[in-house]
Amino acid sequence: MLAHTIKEVREQVKKWKQEGLSVGLVPTMGALHAGHLSLVEASVGKCDKTVVSVFVNPAQFGPNEDFDKYPRTLEEDVRMLSGRDVLIFAPSAEEMYPSSELAKQVPLPAQGESVDFALIRHCEEGVSPMRQSSKSTALTGLLRRLLCKLLAMTKQHKMDNSPQNNAVSFNLSTFLSSTFVVPPRFYTDKLCGKSRPGHFDGVCTVVAKLFNIVQPDYAFFGEKDRQQLIIIQKMVKDLNIPVEIIACPIVRGENGLALSSRNKYLKNKEEALVLNKVLLNIKACYDNGIVDVESLTETAYSFLNKNHSLEYLEFRDKDDLEIKKIADGNTIVFIAVKIGEVRLIDNLLLESS
Ligand code: PAJ
Repeated sequence: MLAHTIKEVREQVKKWKQEGLSVGLVPTMGALHAGHLSLVEASVGKCDKTVVSVFVNPAQFGPNEDFDKYPRTLEEDVRMLSGRDVLIFAPSAEEMYPSSELAKQVPLPAQGESVDFALIRHCEEGVSPMRQSSKSTALTGLLRRLLCKLLAMTKQHKMDNSPQNNAVSFNLSTFLSSTFVVPPRFYTDKLCGKSRPGHFDGVCTVVAKLFNIVQPDYAFFGEKDRQQLIIIQKMVKDLNIPVEIIACPIVRGENGLALSSRNKYLKNKEEALVLNKVLLNIKACYDNGIVDVESLTETAYSFLNKNHSLEYLEFRDKDDLEIKKIADGNTIVFIAVKIGEVRLIDNLLLESS
């Protein structure tokens, strides 16, 4: 079953709920692989009905990220899910983020203009229909706040108006016209959030929207994106969203490489095995009694070569992402490595074996 509109999904879920059936949600961005399918299996096993959303969410991509290049393979995704009793929800960007009148007035940055400059111009020019009204002071304040947020997010990237910047243009309009869910900075200013400012705001916003659209009893997320999982658990708790988050283990290839939609961009898969090798070696050292994080970190360097650009290797608490100096059973080792143009992440919980 394939639905493209919120209305269709709501009607279907309403019928299920009237029949007393439980509903599971598996949010994805498509380009499905066995990792995604493990979440679908978990949902089908636990819930009477399952909704799999397939939506490449522009709000979570930053400038110069791979929004336009991100694989979109809906036909193949539908084929992979066929034979499973699931409702696939594949909305358009317009369905998820309808452009309001206000959004339509946000100027796209001119050729060569930086995003921050375009925004300042926008703030100075004001939003014409409201400019004369008594709301203008409040609006200016709002725009100033949004401007700060966007500046942090875009980090003064120069615009070249290439398709890759569609996500930025989109974010400009959306930030200026929609309500966003902003998780606490303590959770988002580290690990992946450090190099992807605004990313988790986009993730939480779309996931909160999906929760409101589907109203699932359970929602399934992979431990592959552990920071995302922790942030979503925090959002659900803080906003009292009535859904239970189910964490699903990382699915790996035979060689240990964590499955990811981005693996298909790898020119040399061998190089990518370094992430898992570093993690397994740290785990072996930890199991042998080494708990000092500095010493554990040092063990990684013998695996890295000039083709690996290490973005981070960090030891953090599994619940609140607090930094660890001494590893224990609640410690997760997080790693991100860029291999060529491809950025890969992995992580491992150092639970006692
Ligand atoms: P996406 O990258 O498509 O991942 C969808 C879900 O699949 C996430 O919960 C992710 O952790 C899980 N997943 C991906 N690879 C996995 C693997 N090898 N093993 C286990 N689980 C795996 O994460 C997103 O999309 C988006 O941010 C989303 C939550 C859908 C919001 O847009």
